[in-house]
Amino acid sequence: MRILFAFSKPNHAEAVGTGVSKEDDATYAFNESELNKALIKSGKDLDFIFVHEDIFNTKYPWEWMSYIKTSVAEMTKIVILISETTDSWYREIIQRLSLDLGISLIPNGLTLDELAEEIGSRLSAKPKSSEVAEGGGTLVTFMAASPKDGATTIAISTAVCAAQRMPEKKVLLVDFNLKSPEIRDHLNVQSDKGYQMIQADCDSGTLESSSLMKACEQLKDVANLYILTGIQRREWAEKITIEEIGHFLSVARKSFDLIIADVHTFPDQAATLKCIKDADTRLVVVQPIVTSYQSSWNDWYNSVWQHYGMKESDFKLVMNRDNKGALDGYGIEKAMGTKIIARIRNVDKGAGIKAINYGQPLYFNSGDESADFRDNILQLTAMITESAKIEMVPLQADSKSALKGRRKLFGLI
Ligand SMILES: Nc1ncnc2c1ncn2[C@@H]1O[C@H](COP(=O)(O)OP(=O)(O)OP(=O)(O)O)[C@@H](O)[C@H]1O
Ligand SMILES: [Mg+2]
Repeated sequence: MRILFAFSKPNHAEAVGTGVSKEDDATYAFNESELNKALIKSGKDLDFIFVHEDIFNTKYPWEWMSYIKTSVAEMTKIVILISETTDSWYREIIQRLSLDLGISLIPNGLTLDELAEEIGSRLSAKPKSSEVAEGGGTLVTFMAASPKDGATTIAISTAVCAAQRMPEKKVLLVDFNLKSPEIRDHLNVQSDKGYQMIQADCDSGTLESSSLMKACEQLKDVANLYILTGIQRREWAEKITIEEIGHFLSVARKSFDLIIADVHTFPDQAATLKCIKDADTRLVVVQPIVTSYQSSWNDWYNSVWQHYGMKESDFKLVMNRDNKGALDGYGIEKAMGTKIIARIRNVDKGAGIKAINYGQPLYFNSGDESADFRDNILQLTAMITESAKIEMVPLQADSKSALKGRRKLFGLI
C-alpha cells in the first residue's frame, strides 16, 4: 500500500508510523511544501493520504481540500485530522466539504495512542465485502406516525434508560432522521462529532468499529451510551444509499449490544427505509390525534410500507402524550391495525419545549410532573431489553410497578 502522511508535528508521524507494516510504502511530509512535492511525485498512486489540517497555514479549507482531492486518484482514501485550533466556522466548512469530496474526518482531542490505533484500523480495513446484516446487537427503530409526535424524545429517553440499566453492555443511539436531525439540539451537543466524520467510510464500505465509536458523543455519567448525531447538510440525506446504511448497520451490530435508531416519518430516504426494514423491533410513536394515527400513518403505510412487504402488525405502537383516555387507545389500534405496547404520559407545564430549549432531555427532568413519564419509559425499556434478551439491572429507585407492568405487556413485541 502507498501511504502519504502529512503532519506538522513529528510526534504524530512517529506515533502513526508504528502502525504501518514493512510491506507498506509510507512517505512523510512535515509542511505544505513537502506535501506538494510528494503529491506531484506520486499523488495519483496513493492508496491513502492522511493530512493534518495544521499543515495548511495560509489556505482556506475549500482551497486545500479541493487541492488534495484533485492531486490524488479517485480511489485514494483521503483522511483529514481536524486541528485543535480551527475556529468553529472553518470546522463547519470542512465538515460540509468533506461530504462533497468523499473525505473521512478524524476528530481532534485524541491521544497519540488513540490516533495511532485509529489510523492503524483504517489502514487494515477491508474494502466492501459481503455484509452480515444479521446477528450481533439488536436494532430498535423509532419513527413518528406524523412529525413531532415525539420519536426523538422517546428514542433518547429509552436509550439513556437502557444504558443506565445494562452497564456491561454498549448502547448506540443514532440520529438517522437525516432531514431533521434533532438529537444534537435535544442534548445540546456542541462538538463536531457525528455521522459526517464517517460518511465516506460508510459509503466505501470500510467503516471500522473504532472509527464509529470515535465519531460518537458521550454523556457524562452514562459511559456505555454512544450517541451518533446526524449530518447538518440536510439536503445530503437523499444522496445516502441503502448500501451505505446497510454497511453502517452491520458494523454497528458488531460493535453494540443495542442500537436505537431515530428515523423520520417520511419514508423518502435510505436511512429511514433501511433502518425500518432491518429493525428487530419497529416502534411507531403516535399521538391520540387524528392527523397522527389516521391520516399520516395510513397514507404512508398504504403508499410505501406495505409495498416493502410489511404488515401493519410488523410495527408496534408507542402512544405518546397519553392523557389516560382509554378509548383513545382502542381507536388508535383500530385505525392503525396493530397494538399499543406502551403509553407515555404527557409532561405538563411546557416541560417538552423547555427540554429542547435548554438541551435537558425530559427523561432527566426529576420533577414530580415527569414521574409518570419516567416510569412509562422504564416500562418500555424493560420490554425492549427483554425482547433483545439483554438482562436489565434495575436501579434502586426504579418503580416496581413499572417493572411489573412489563410482564403484562410483554409478548407483544
Ligand atoms: N410525553 C411528552 N410530554 C411532553 N412533551 C413531549 C412529550 N413527548 C414529546 N414532547 C415534546 O414534543 C416536541 C416534539 O417532540 P420530538 O422532537 O421528540 O418529536 P419527533 O417526533 O422526534 O419530531 P420530528 O418529526 O421532528 O422528528 C418536543 O418539544 C418534545 O419535548
Ligand atoms: Mg425527531
